[in-house]
Amino acid sequence: MGKDVIIACDFASAAQTFAFLDKFTDEKPFVKIGMELFYAEGPSIVREIKRRGHKIFLDLKLHDIPNTVKKSMAVLSNLDVDICNLHAGGTIPMMEAALEGLTREDGSRPLLIAVTQLTSTDQQHMEDDLWIHAPIADVVMHYAENAKKAGLDGVVCSPLEAGKVHDLCGSGFLTVTPGVRFADGERGDQRRVMTPAQAKEIGSDYIVVGRPITGAEDPVAAYRRCVNEFC
Ligand code: C5P
Repeated sequence: MGKDVIIACDFASAAQTFAFLDKFTDEKPFVKIGMELFYAEGPSIVREIKRRGHKIFLDLKLHDIPNTVKKSMAVLSNLDVDICNLHAGGTIPMMEAALEGLTREDGSRPLLIAVTQLTSTDQQHMEDDLWIHAPIADVVMHYAENAKKAGLDGVVCSPLEAGKVHDLCGSGFLTVTPGVRFADGERGDQRRVMTPAQAKEIGSDYIVVGRPITGAEDPVAAYRRCVNEFC
Protein backbone atom coordinates (compact mmCIF):
# COMPACT_ATOMS: atom_id res chain seq x y z
CA MET A 1 0.00 0.00 0.00
CA GLY A 2 1.30 3.46 -0.85
CA LYS A 3 0.66 6.87 0.60
CA ASP A 4 -3.00 7.53 1.25
CA VAL A 5 -5.47 9.79 3.01
CA ILE A 6 -7.63 7.94 5.58
CA ILE A 7 -10.90 9.64 6.52
CA ALA A 8 -11.76 9.29 10.23
CA CYS A 9 -15.47 8.40 10.10
CA ASP A 10 -16.20 9.53 13.65
CA PHE A 11 -19.95 9.15 13.34
CA ALA A 12 -22.33 7.69 15.91
CA SER A 13 -24.40 5.54 13.55
CA ALA A 14 -24.37 3.58 10.32
CA ALA A 15 -27.00 5.94 8.87
CA GLN A 16 -24.77 9.00 9.37
CA THR A 17 -21.74 7.13 8.03
CA PHE A 18 -23.48 6.01 4.85
CA ALA A 19 -25.02 9.45 4.29
CA PHE A 20 -21.44 10.74 4.36
CA LEU A 21 -19.90 8.00 2.20
CA ASP A 22 -22.71 8.29 -0.38
CA LYS A 23 -21.32 11.72 -1.28
CA PHE A 24 -18.30 9.99 -2.83
CA THR A 25 -19.46 8.79 -6.23
CA ASP A 26 -16.13 8.87 -8.13
CA GLU A 27 -13.72 7.58 -5.50
CA LYS A 28 -13.63 5.06 -2.64
CA PRO A 29 -11.69 6.68 0.20
CA PHE A 30 -9.79 4.65 2.80
CA VAL A 31 -11.85 5.02 6.00
CA LYS A 32 -11.09 4.72 9.70
CA ILE A 33 -13.74 3.17 11.92
CA GLY A 34 -13.27 3.91 15.60
CA MET A 35 -14.67 2.54 18.83
CA GLU A 36 -17.80 4.71 18.87
CA LEU A 37 -19.11 3.50 15.53
CA PHE A 38 -17.95 -0.10 16.01
CA TYR A 39 -19.53 -0.42 19.44
CA ALA A 40 -22.75 1.17 18.17
CA GLU A 41 -23.14 -0.92 15.04
CA GLY A 42 -20.95 -4.00 15.50
CA PRO A 43 -19.09 -5.96 12.82
CA SER A 44 -21.87 -5.43 10.26
CA ILE A 45 -20.68 -1.85 9.72
CA VAL A 46 -17.24 -3.17 8.75
CA ARG A 47 -18.71 -5.75 6.36
CA GLU A 48 -20.96 -3.17 4.70
CA ILE A 49 -18.21 -0.56 4.21
CA LYS A 50 -15.95 -3.30 2.85
CA ARG A 51 -18.73 -4.48 0.53
CA ARG A 52 -18.94 -0.94 -0.84
CA GLY A 53 -15.29 -1.21 -1.83
CA HIS A 54 -13.50 0.91 0.81
CA LYS A 55 -10.28 -0.02 2.58
CA ILE A 56 -10.70 0.05 6.35
CA PHE A 57 -8.46 1.00 9.27
CA LEU A 58 -10.25 -0.47 12.30
CA ASP A 59 -9.06 1.68 15.20
CA LEU A 60 -9.95 -0.39 18.28
CA LYS A 61 -6.59 -0.08 20.12
CA LEU A 62 -6.53 -3.52 21.74
CA HIS A 63 -4.73 -3.93 25.09
CA ASP A 64 -5.21 -7.14 27.10
CA ILE A 65 -3.38 -10.36 27.94
CA PRO A 66 -1.65 -11.92 24.91
CA ASN A 67 -4.06 -14.86 24.58
CA THR A 68 -7.14 -12.61 24.55
CA VAL A 69 -5.57 -10.21 22.06
CA LYS A 70 -4.51 -13.09 19.82
CA LYS A 71 -8.02 -14.53 19.65
CA SER A 72 -9.64 -11.13 19.18
CA MET A 73 -7.24 -10.26 16.36
CA ALA A 74 -8.20 -13.51 14.61
CA VAL A 75 -11.81 -12.30 14.63
CA LEU A 76 -10.83 -8.89 13.21
CA SER A 77 -8.70 -10.55 10.55
CA ASN A 78 -11.75 -12.55 9.41
CA LEU A 79 -13.54 -9.22 8.91
CA ASP A 80 -10.94 -8.53 6.21
CA VAL A 81 -9.91 -5.10 7.49
CA ASP A 82 -6.77 -3.54 5.98
CA ILE A 83 -5.19 -2.03 9.10
CA CYS A 84 -5.83 -2.63 12.80
CA ASN A 85 -4.04 -1.47 15.92
CA LEU A 86 -3.17 -2.03 19.56
CA HIS A 87 -1.39 -0.31 22.44
CA ALA A 88 2.37 -0.89 22.45
CA GLY A 89 2.05 -0.60 26.26
CA GLY A 90 0.72 -4.17 26.20
CA THR A 91 4.37 -5.24 25.78
CA ILE A 92 6.23 -7.20 23.09
CA PRO A 93 4.65 -10.61 23.93
CA MET A 94 1.18 -9.09 23.50
CA MET A 95 2.15 -7.56 20.15
CA GLU A 96 3.65 -10.86 18.96
CA ALA A 97 0.50 -12.70 19.98
CA ALA A 98 -1.59 -10.14 18.10
CA LEU A 99 0.37 -10.76 14.90
CA GLU A 100 -0.09 -14.51 15.30
CA GLY A 101 -3.82 -14.08 15.71
CA LEU A 102 -4.06 -11.80 12.69
CA THR A 103 -2.21 -14.12 10.33
CA ARG A 104 -4.58 -16.18 8.20
CA GLU A 105 -3.99 -19.75 7.08
CA ASP A 106 -2.65 -18.56 3.72
CA GLY A 107 -0.10 -16.31 5.47
CA SER A 108 -1.89 -13.04 4.59
CA ARG A 109 -2.94 -10.56 7.29
CA PRO A 110 -4.06 -6.96 7.80
CA LEU A 111 -1.34 -4.43 8.61
CA LEU A 112 -0.83 -4.02 12.35
CA ILE A 113 0.27 -0.73 13.87
CA ALA A 114 0.81 0.38 17.47
CA VAL A 115 -0.26 3.36 19.50
CA THR A 116 2.83 4.43 21.49
CA GLN A 117 1.59 6.95 24.06
CA LEU A 118 -1.77 8.59 23.45
CA THR A 119 -1.42 12.26 22.54
CA SER A 120 -3.77 13.02 25.44
CA THR A 121 -1.07 11.73 27.82
CA ASP A 122 1.50 14.36 28.78
CA GLN A 123 4.73 14.15 30.75
CA GLN A 124 2.98 14.96 34.02
CA HIS A 125 0.33 12.21 33.62
CA MET A 126 2.97 9.74 32.59
CA GLU A 127 5.04 10.44 35.68
CA ASP A 128 2.23 10.88 38.23
CA ASP A 129 -0.22 8.22 37.03
CA LEU A 130 1.89 5.68 35.15
CA TRP A 131 5.12 6.12 37.13
CA ILE A 132 7.14 6.37 33.93
CA HIS A 133 9.90 8.89 34.52
CA ALA A 134 11.70 9.07 31.16
CA PRO A 135 11.02 12.00 28.81
CA ILE A 136 7.84 11.33 26.85
CA ALA A 137 9.57 11.75 23.47
CA ASP A 138 12.00 8.96 24.43
CA VAL A 139 9.15 6.76 25.65
CA VAL A 140 7.33 7.18 22.32
CA MET A 141 10.47 6.19 20.39
CA HIS A 142 11.19 3.25 22.71
CA TYR A 143 7.64 1.94 22.24
CA ALA A 144 8.01 2.36 18.46
CA GLU A 145 11.18 0.28 18.60
CA ASN A 146 9.36 -2.37 20.65
CA ALA A 147 6.63 -2.50 17.99
CA LYS A 148 9.30 -2.96 15.33
CA LYS A 149 10.99 -5.71 17.38
CA ALA A 150 7.66 -7.51 17.75
CA GLY A 151 7.30 -7.50 13.95
CA LEU A 152 4.57 -4.86 13.61
CA ASP A 153 4.24 -2.75 10.48
CA GLY A 154 4.31 0.72 12.04
CA VAL A 155 2.91 3.16 14.55
CA VAL A 156 0.27 5.84 14.90
CA CYS A 157 2.12 9.04 15.71
CA SER A 158 2.08 12.80 15.38
CA PRO A 159 3.35 13.98 11.99
CA LEU A 160 6.01 15.78 14.02
CA GLU A 161 7.36 12.40 15.17
CA ALA A 162 7.18 10.62 11.81
CA GLY A 163 10.69 11.58 10.65
CA LYS A 164 12.31 10.42 13.87
CA VAL A 165 10.37 7.12 13.82
CA HIS A 166 11.64 6.48 10.29
CA ASP A 167 15.22 7.32 11.31
CA LEU A 168 15.01 4.87 14.20
CA CYS A 169 12.90 2.05 12.77
CA GLY A 170 13.59 2.36 9.04
CA SER A 171 11.75 4.04 6.18
CA GLY A 172 9.63 0.93 5.59
CA PHE A 173 8.12 1.16 9.08
CA LEU A 174 4.77 2.88 8.58
CA THR A 175 3.83 6.15 10.20
CA VAL A 176 0.11 6.81 10.32
CA THR A 177 -0.47 10.37 11.43
CA PRO A 178 -3.56 12.20 12.68
CA GLY A 179 -3.45 15.88 13.66
CA VAL A 180 -3.71 17.17 10.10
CA ARG A 181 -5.25 20.54 9.27
CA PHE A 182 -5.42 22.75 6.18
CA ALA A 183 -3.30 25.90 6.45
CA ASP A 184 -6.47 28.03 6.35
CA GLY A 185 -8.63 25.66 8.46
CA GLU A 186 -9.78 25.36 12.07
CA ARG A 187 -7.58 23.45 14.50
CA GLY A 188 -10.41 22.36 16.81
CA ASP A 189 -8.95 20.49 19.81
CA GLN A 190 -5.80 19.37 17.96
CA ARG A 191 -2.72 21.17 19.23
CA ARG A 192 0.30 19.99 17.31
CA VAL A 193 -0.90 20.04 13.71
CA MET A 194 0.54 19.90 10.22
CA THR A 195 -0.90 20.49 6.77
CA PRO A 196 -1.17 17.53 4.37
CA ALA A 197 1.71 19.00 2.35
CA GLN A 198 3.92 19.26 5.46
CA ALA A 199 3.00 15.70 6.47
CA LYS A 200 4.11 14.57 3.01
CA GLU A 201 7.34 16.53 3.31
CA ILE A 202 8.17 14.91 6.64
CA GLY A 203 7.49 11.42 5.30
CA SER A 204 4.17 10.32 6.83
CA ASP A 205 2.88 7.21 5.06
CA TYR A 206 -0.81 7.76 5.81
CA ILE A 207 -2.60 10.80 7.16
CA VAL A 208 -5.79 10.36 9.18
CA VAL A 209 -8.12 13.30 8.61
CA GLY A 210 -11.48 13.70 10.32
CA ARG A 211 -13.23 17.02 10.77
CA PRO A 212 -11.42 18.96 8.03
CA ILE A 213 -13.23 16.55 5.65
CA THR A 214 -16.32 15.33 7.56
CA GLY A 215 -17.16 18.87 8.73
CA ALA A 216 -16.46 20.60 5.41
CA GLU A 217 -19.21 22.22 3.39
CA ASP A 218 -18.04 20.10 0.45
CA PRO A 219 -16.44 16.95 1.90
CA VAL A 220 -15.53 15.54 -1.51
CA ALA A 221 -13.65 18.72 -2.44
CA ALA A 222 -11.90 18.72 0.96
CA TYR A 223 -10.89 15.07 0.48
CA ARG A 224 -9.53 15.82 -3.00
CA ARG A 225 -7.59 18.76 -1.63
CA CYS A 226 -5.98 16.45 0.96
CA VAL A 227 -5.12 13.88 -1.68
CA ASN A 228 -3.64 16.53 -3.99
CA GLU A 229 -1.49 17.97 -1.22
CA PHE A 230 -0.41 14.67 0.33
CA CYS A 231 -0.20 11.95 -2.34
O1 C5P B 1 -11.18 15.29 13.34
P1 C5P B 1 -9.73 15.02 13.42
O2 C5P B 1 -8.99 15.26 12.10
O3 C5P B 1 -9.05 15.71 14.59
O4 C5P B 1 -9.67 13.43 13.66
C1 C5P B 1 -8.47 12.76 13.93
C2 C5P B 1 -8.76 11.32 14.19
O5 C5P B 1 -7.56 10.68 14.60
C3 C5P B 1 -9.78 11.05 15.30
O6 C5P B 1 -10.48 9.84 14.97
C4 C5P B 1 -8.91 10.86 16.52
O7 C5P B 1 -9.52 10.05 17.49
C5 C5P B 1 -7.70 10.16 15.92
N1 C5P B 1 -6.46 10.29 16.69
C6 C5P B 1 -5.89 11.52 17.01
N2 C5P B 1 -4.74 11.57 17.73
C7 C5P B 1 -4.14 10.44 18.14
C8 C5P B 1 -4.69 9.20 17.83
C9 C5P B 1 -5.87 9.16 17.10
O8 C5P B 1 -6.42 12.55 16.63
N3 C5P B 1 -3.00 10.51 18.79
